[in-house]
Amino acid sequence: MMLAIKAVNKVFNAGQASETVALKDINFTLESDEFVSIIGPSGCGKSTLLRVVGDLVRPTTGDVLVGGKSAEQARLDHDYSMVFQAPVLLEWRKVLANVMLPLEIYKLDKTERTARARSLLKMVEIDGFENHYPWQLSGGMQQRVAIARALATQPQLLLMDEPFGALDEMTRERMNDQLHNIWRQTDTTVLFVTHSIAEAVFLSTKIIIMSARPGQIMHVVDVDLPLPRDSQTRESVRFFEIGREVREWLRRAEE
Ligand SMILES: Nc1ncnc2c1ncn2[C@@H]1O[C@H](COP(=O)(O)OP(=O)(O)O)[C@@H](O)[C@H]1O
Ligand SMILES: [Mg+2]
Repeated sequence: MMLAIKAVNKVFNAGQASETVALKDINFTLESDEFVSIIGPSGCGKSTLLRVVGDLVRPTTGDVLVGGKSAEQARLDHDYSMVFQAPVLLEWRKVLANVMLPLEIYKLDKTERTARARSLLKMVEIDGFENHYPWQLSGGMQQRVAIARALATQPQLLLMDEPFGALDEMTRERMNDQLHNIWRQTDTTVLFVTHSIAEAVFLSTKIIIMSARPGQIMHVVDVDLPLPRDSQTRESVRFFEIGREVREWLRRAEE
């Protein structure tokens, strides 16, 4: 089991007028090889849930186990990486140096680090831009650099919080194709937050639907579309059927 979330509750500002129950009795498990999306109304606790898994926020009660370890131990062991909506790159470092950054803590020599960073940039189709600065790239390209950097440590678990939320539809579809191929090529398990039904259906093996605050798991949709997925997947009858099912659950979630 890659990830186990057991009876997790999160209350912000407990006992104050601003008390917010962000997560209520969250239970789920993720096997390795899975790609699981979380979708739900805005403010329902999706980012909080991802932060709890990533040990950026402590749950009020409950447990998170990443590959059998506590979330804190998994963070200290670099078992996971996170990608946020805005690509967080160091502006004064060139693209290659940004991807090499997380490798500097390991005892890899410079040649090895460079080789690994170059092959990751190739995988996200940014080769040829190694010596550019982040500001010289489009938003979509910067996000791909951020993804390459997140993959540099070969994390067992990749946590992604609306990574393509700021991109136009066509760019987003291309990014989805690439992320799908990366997920197929690596052993990384992915937990992915999104607002987009199409994106969730295309990428996922399972979709968790959360209800409006206090965020609870309302339903889990199994996505039985065949692998690998490609542009034909988006034209298939099953793709539309699953999309409709997710949309109906989301409508209920917002009530
Ligand atoms: N650090 C925090 N302090 C207080 N309240 C917070 C904090 N982080 C999130 N919240 C509240 O918790 C709820 C869930 O937020 P969030 O997880 O960001 O939702 P989502 O990502 O689904 O839009 C919201 O009401 C939000 O205002
Ligand atoms: Mg959020």
